[in-house]
Amino acid sequence: VSLHVFETFYVLMVLWAMAHLRLTGQDANGVPLRRSKRGWMWNQFFLLEEYTGTDLQYVGKLHSDADRGDGSVRYVLNGEGAGTLFKIDEKSGDIHATKRLDREEKAYYILHAKAVNRFTNEALEGESEFIIKIHDINDNEPRFTKDPYMARVPEMSDIGTSVIQVTATDADDATYGNSARVVYSILEGQPYFSVDPDTGLIKTALPGMDREVKENYQVVIQAKDMAGQMGGLSGTTTVSITLSDVNDNPPRFTKTLYEFRVPESTELGSVVGLIRAMDADIGENAEMDYRIIGSDGPGMFDITTNRSTQDGVIVLRKPLDYERKRQYSLRVQVENVHINPRFFSMGPFRDEATIKIIVEDVDEPPVFERASYVMEVKEDAARNTVIGSVSASDPDDKNSLVRYSIDRRTDMDRVFNIHAGNGSVFILRELDREENAWHNISVIATEFNNPRQISRVPVYIRVLDVNDNAPTFATNYETFVCENARANQVIQTVSATDPDEPLGGHRFFFSLAQEAAGKANFSVRDNKDNTAGILTRRNSYNSLQKSIYHVPVVISDGEFPMQSSTNTLTIRVCTCDREGNMKLCNTEALTARAGLSTGALVAILLCVIILLMIVVLFAALRRQRKKEPLIISKEDVRDNVVSYNDEGGGEEDTQAFDIGTLRNPEAIEESKQRRDIVPETFYPPVRRPVLPPTRDNNGDVRDFINQRLQDNDSDPTAPPYDSLATYAYEGNGSVAESLSSLESVTTEGDQDYNYLSEWGPRFKKLADMYGGDDSDRDS
Ligand SMILES: *[C@@H]1O[C@H](CO)[C@@H](O)[C@H](O)[C@H]1NC(C)=O
Ligand SMILES: *[C@@H]1O[C@H](CO)[C@@H](O)[C@H](O)[C@H]1NC(C)=O
Ligand SMILES: *[C@@H]1O[C@H](CO)[C@@H](O)[C@H](O)[C@H]1NC(C)=O
Ligand SMILES: *[C@@H]1O[C@H](CO)[C@@H](O)[C@H](O)[C@H]1NC(C)=O
Repeated sequence: VSLHVFETFYVLMVLWAMAHLRLTGQDANGVPLRRSKRGWMWNQFFLLEEYTGTDLQYVGKLHSDADRGDGSVRYVLNGEGAGTLFKIDEKSGDIHATKRLDREEKAYYILHAKAVNRFTNEALEGESEFIIKIHDINDNEPRFTKDPYMARVPEMSDIGTSVIQVTATDADDATYGNSARVVYSILEGQPYFSVDPDTGLIKTALPGMDREVKENYQVVIQAKDMAGQMGGLSGTTTVSITLSDVNDNPPRFTKTLYEFRVPESTELGSVVGLIRAMDADIGENAEMDYRIIGSDGPGMFDITTNRSTQDGVIVLRKPLDYERKRQYSLRVQVENVHINPRFFSMGPFRDEATIKIIVEDVDEPPVFERASYVMEVKEDAARNTVIGSVSASDPDDKNSLVRYSIDRRTDMDRVFNIHAGNGSVFILRELDREENAWHNISVIATEFNNPRQISRVPVYIRVLDVNDNAPTFATNYETFVCENARANQVIQTVSATDPDEPLGGHRFFFSLAQEAAGKANFSVRDNKDNTAGILTRRNSYNSLQKSIYHVPVVISDGEFPMQSSTNTLTIRVCTCDREGNMKLCNTEALTARAGLSTGALVAILLCVIILLMIVVLFAALRRQRKKEPLIISKEDVRDNVVSYNDEGGGEEDTQAFDIGTLRNPEAIEESKQRRDIVPETFYPPVRRPVLPPTRDNNGDVRDFINQRLQDNDSDPTAPPYDSLATYAYEGNGSVAESLSSLESVTTEGDQDYNYLSEWGPRFKKLADMYGGDDSDRDS
């Protein structure tokens, strides 16, 4: 039995097979059989899937020729599902399926059968393989691979434009019957779309589908098996079809006239207004360009497109002036950026509109006629002279009056003033070009009605020169004339200066003053180059006779009005060598020449004072160092009480006291003063008249000391307690002649050598109370 037999109806097949099997073993019916004797010739059974009957589904029957119906043959089944899915009656060989089978699960089962002798277990037939094939029924509906489908197709597409292909699959046996044969049809979406029944390709079915009318379509497609015949199973899917945009719509202005109001003060580059054209398309198909195609103010405005909003932006390009033009009218055009020529035929692809721009008045500050003013005034101009005027006016329609004033910050000294009404600038003070050649001021114009509307203008006032200064000597000349000078010698060349600035430069004239001309000893020679030479007129000058000459020189300038001055040149008379070099001048002249200025003198004086102060400071410091305790120890006292009652060894005895002390009368006097305290009132040391050396007192030490003691006691500057005073006394026999060493340091001839010093080192009234300091060389 070949496989192509299955194409015939399955019931017949089974019957046929069963009859065949039966026939093979039954020759008794008289049917002539050409078959071989072996009745074990089978290999395939068929079984219907999805059997829903109540009794077991009969598959087929095994039969052996050796089976005589006496029950001695036993049929045995092995293989896939044997005993579970498939059961065999061992006696009759009938095979039944125990369960409902699904072809889509397992399409066939391979089994083995054999027949054995029930008693001997002897194999009556060899083991044979056979197949139970499950027959398909249409138990699966077609399924779409996607649900839903999404698709796009450009609007305005032609009929039959492919949109998308949908596919449905059927799980049933495609090799058998029509169970898996699917046919597509459209349930929803007509008449816009169609579907190819065999391929599932969706196409447009209507021309001129407009996205702007309807953008989205939900198309329902059905797939039905059994080749779409009645009784077939079906499945559906939804296809969402979106029309994509094409530029089939031109931009259109929403108004034919747009109106904007703009203040005249609007800055250049500012946005004056926005206009918008509508375009039913989207994306780049809605991009548009605006253009000004006509204007009564060419170049005044510009229009651009805001790419994010597609607005037409009107921008100011030139300044507005309400007073000049109050209204502008523009003709604008709009057009898509990406034009699709396919739709030209559908009507005009651009649009036009009119824009009216109304300029609004703004209160503006006054405007000066000029950006700056330059005025000139002669420096000798009288007060209240008008030197010029400025003019400003209100540009507004109202034409408010303007008030002028001077910005006082630019004219701190109030040199100028301005007439508030007519703008005339006049001077309030006298001018001096030599002090200030320029006065740069600022004039303010204020609107009378609105004082906040102000503007300023710079006014440069130049002070013109007037010859109001007389020339003078350029420097202070120091001139001398040699006593041995010859006549007509140039002893000095002088020049002049003048702060005025005449246009053609200075021209100075020099001459000797009229009053000196008569008996003049010098002459003036104008060199005609703004210098002049001073010449001698005599052959010799004598400083003893006249040491200084004053020569009056008149210098005048050539300007108008002429200015002149008399300048006195001082000439000293000096002795010179042959070459004419100055050697010595009159002292008076010298000092004059040395010409120590008061400043220098003060400086010198200051130096002297400082020096003095330093000296005083040093002295004070030294004194401080000496201020140490009077008594340090008794030993020291004893050691030092040596000299007061010492006869002394004369000149040789230098051990006892310091002769140096004697040589310095200043030091002696100083030591007389208190060292421990400063007396409140200073008494000059009392100087006893020294008695002339006589026989009586000369040599009498006792008397000498007593006298000194008495002096000390009566001394008001003496301290209130015991203190030490030392006196030097050269003993008897010391004669003036022998004091050669003292003589050498004494300058005054009337020195008393017998009493070397009346104020020697300290004297001690009470020997044990003596106090002295080690550092004191005097002791
Ligand atoms: C365009 O318009 C938007 C919205 O008004 C604004 O934010 C943007 O700045 C504009 N762009 C230009 C270039 O003017
Ligand atoms: C402005 O007024 C002043 C004072 O009345 C007068 O001197 C001056 O000439 C006037 N200036 C002009 C430009 O009229
Ligand atoms: C005033 O202005 C003039 C001209 O601009 C200039 O030369 C001069 O230096 C200025 N003087 C002062 C003080 O600013
Ligand atoms: C010139 O010199 C003489 C004597 O040296 C003197 O008397 C006379 O006053 C001088 N003249 C003048 C103008 O100084």
